[in-house]
Amino acid sequence: MTRLLINVDHVATLRNARRESFPDPVAAAVFAEKAGADGIVFHLREDRRHINERDVALLKQIVRGKLDFELSTDPDVVRICCATQPHLATLVPERREEVTTEGGLDVQRGQELITSTVARLRDAGIPEVALFVDPVEAQLEAVPDTGADAIELHTGDYAKAGTPAERQRHLERLARAASQAHRLGLTVHAGHGLDYHNYPLFAEAVPHLAEVSIGFAVVAHAVMGGMDEAVRTMRYLVKGY
Ligand code: PXP
Repeated sequence: MTRLLINVDHVATLRNARRESFPDPVAAAVFAEKAGADGIVFHLREDRRHINERDVALLKQIVRGKLDFELSTDPDVVRICCATQPHLATLVPERREEVTTEGGLDVQRGQELITSTVARLRDAGIPEVALFVDPVEAQLEAVPDTGADAIELHTGDYAKAGTPAERQRHLERLARAASQAHRLGLTVHAGHGLDYHNYPLFAEAVPHLAEVSIGFAVVAHAVMGGMDEAVRTMRYLVKGY
């Protein structure tokens, strides 16, 4: 059974937009696990645009399921990850000017830095390290030499596909990549842009899916799903009925 890990970054995005203390991604993690999530994901970015060190420390304390710490190879963030001791560290590329993670790691070109970062994380006692990669054969081929245990397949291009034919092409690429990773002895995770509409087709087509990481769609759904009750409560306060 595929495990569902919920990414709480965008609860922090909303909090930080008003430089407030709420909504709290830590509280969101409690709700997510209560609702049946198998774990929680967060990305501590170098620019701290959403999750910050306070969140990391509290998430470490309160998350009962699997904790996935997404990070770049930035030495300061790697140090915080090692000290946090999550169950899983997922290495992702990071550019300050991007709105969200835009693609997988270039494992071939970045092999040396990625390998030494994986070694640091493993030496610190983190039991599982994953690399976020595009579904590209040559990239996957390069993963075992880095010492990583798992890959997270980048599903963003599939999620953004504009036509059924394009969607099908991306699904086939993802399915081939998942099979290849499995043959290489790597655990298969996936994420980015997965939502309530595109997930069923994806799960049907792609084999060996141990884990998916989903954030934005769930946070957006929570906002819209909660809007009715939120307005009714405020209306009661303002108008008395
Ligand atoms: N996996 C990785 C590596 C990511 O960077 C993200 C986005 O933060 C996700 C999964 C989750 O993507 P989304 O928020 O679109 O569900």
